[in-house]
Amino acid sequence: MKPRQIKEGIFWLGSLDWDRRLFDALIPLPDGTTYNAYLVQGEDKTVLLDTVDIPKVPEILEQLQGVEKIDFVVSHHAEPDHSGAVPTVLEKYPEARAVCTEKCKAMLMDRFEISGDRFLTVADGETLDLGGRTLEFLHMPWVHWPETMVTYLKEDKILFSCDLFGSHIASTDLFVRDKARVFEAAKRYYAEIMMPFAKLIAKHLERLAPYDIQLIAASHGSLYDDPAFIMDAYGEWVLGKPQNLVVIPYVSMHGSTRMMVDFLTDELVQRDVGVMRFDLTEVDIGKLAMALVDAATIVIATPTVLTGPHPKALYAAALANLIRPKARFASIIGSYGWGTKVVDQIAAALPNLKIEILPPVLGKGIPKKEEKAALSEMADQIAQRHRQL
Ligand code: FEO
Repeated sequence: MKPRQIKEGIFWLGSLDWDRRLFDALIPLPDGTTYNAYLVQGEDKTVLLDTVDIPKVPEILEQLQGVEKIDFVVSHHAEPDHSGAVPTVLEKYPEARAVCTEKCKAMLMDRFEISGDRFLTVADGETLDLGGRTLEFLHMPWVHWPETMVTYLKEDKILFSCDLFGSHIASTDLFVRDKARVFEAAKRYYAEIMMPFAKLIAKHLERLAPYDIQLIAASHGSLYDDPAFIMDAYGEWVLGKPQNLVVIPYVSMHGSTRMMVDFLTDELVQRDVGVMRFDLTEVDIGKLAMALVDAATIVIATPTVLTGPHPKALYAAALANLIRPKARFASIIGSYGWGTKVVDQIAAALPNLKIEILPPVLGKGIPKKEEKAALSEMADQIAQRHRQL
């Protein structure tokens, strides 16, 4: 795709990766993704902000044909989906320097073997005068790695936010137009990439609040010409209270655990508690992650395989532990044939979550009167706790 003008002297470059279906060998990309780079021309200096992933380097090189001079390439974040073309751009423009944090410099040197003298490291709050345009660099660690920063273009009131506020979506909309579609993609992105750092993001949002931001140009997805749309959404995802919702990731081998899930679902619904269920044999883990942004309670349902949990249930627990949702309560239900140690193993997989574990319900074979009574009691406890949130 050819460069697209955002306004005079500011251009979108980059790549739409329509066909990519997995990120970090983990995260499903149902709508592909984009790698956004931005060319900003001042009266004296020209800057490229971020680049593209390694397989897309030829695309950005083609877009840079006719750009005679680049003085700086700002690397907000060392992950190769944004820094993939930094070495190539430095090679094409021998006078150019990479602008980044000290930590980012070290990472880029480790990853790409770029010589140290090609860098200009910037302190938090430092500015760079391009002639009529000024870049202000704001260090924002952990969105999404510890070396990350964002850039505010003062005169044009544009925030170049890199991963922060991004969405994995390949769209020809330069600016967000289909808000419902983007909301879902951005929430999925938040759940998978940003949620583990929610406390830090709260601080970053506070820091950005006084800035007059008229456009957010993230490095994935369309640009936000209505920044409040995404900033308000982040405010809710980061700071909002958990909702009256139970997420149940489950596996069932012969139907007994599913019967328990069905019974618990009915009991919760009768108590006006919302439920979202995810069959772990087929689930898009992005959808599970999105549900975990809101849920107050997680109930993992698993049969016993030999003596432990089904590996897919353990995987769901590991995922929840990794992305650190704000859920306050959790429990475990499931069936077994002759003996089980699932509770210890699932609970041990959740060390990052500061949650109250409600009494689990495990039963031999199909759920009988005793297990059903215990599941009803679990539903009572969940409903009561949700009312107190
Ligand atoms: Fe889009 Fe953390 O890279």
